[in-house]
Amino acid sequence: MSKKKILVFASVAFIAILASLLIFLFRSNKVEAPNFRDNSSMLNEDILSDTEAEQKSYLDIKSATSQYVLVNKSNQVKPQDYRPADLVVADVDVSSSDTKDEQSVREIVKSSLEKMMRDAKAEGLNLVMNSGFRSYSSQSFYFNNYVKQSGLEAAKKFSAQPGYSEHQTGLSFDLSYKNRECYLEICFAETKAGKWLADNAHKYGFILRYPEGKESITGYQYEPWHFRFLGEDIAKDVYEKKLTYEEYLSELGLISL
Ligand code: DAL
Ligand code: ZN
Repeated sequence: MSKKKILVFASVAFIAILASLLIFLFRSNKVEAPNFRDNSSMLNEDILSDTEAEQKSYLDIKSATSQYVLVNKSNQVKPQDYRPADLVVADVDVSSSDTKDEQSVREIVKSSLEKMMRDAKAEGLNLVMNSGFRSYSSQSFYFNNYVKQSGLEAAKKFSAQPGYSEHQTGLSFDLSYKNRECYLEICFAETKAGKWLADNAHKYGFILRYPEGKESITGYQYEPWHFRFLGEDIAKDVYEKKLTYEEYLSELGLISL
């Protein structure tokens, strides 16, 4: 081979090696586009995956039809005469003195409620559901009666004004013993049923909505008998963090307290 040919061959080989080296270096140093997403409203980023936290940050807490709707003293049910379209009488023991409305809950609650009541029965607890759905007008009736009996200020501590009751969503209900031991009384919390429900309701998708010592947040006195459906995922979160629903939503950045 002539000297000239060797030189040309060496130059081509050198350029090829240099080009490969440059391509390799460029690829390994390629910088990912920065993620400028604002994570400030996330809760427990260490526990929740981004997707889970994002989903929870967008819970629909405004629509009456949403299973996550927030109803309390400052969040009214809208429209005022809202009545769920999917009310059903669940296959559970209900109070015979309740109206058909009150014996009903939303279809989305039915199977969870039935399962919880079946398991409660298996634990030897004879429970009955009282006051599932209450319409605006039946809440008016109850509230006005309580005001007559106890006065306005006292009534507001344990009864919602019409249009502001979670019972109007069809997602809530009150539970008691069939024999009415500690019926709608704080002592229900100390009964076997009160304890079992407080410890287990979340496994079926329910939260104890008005816990002890949280009156300043929920607006209502302790009600160990009142449960609210949220679905297993959120109910478990609320239970494990020992929060009220208001506090939970506040941690997600969805409301301010
Ligand atoms: N007892 C609850 C607060 C209600 O009346 O809806
Ligand atoms: Zn209730």
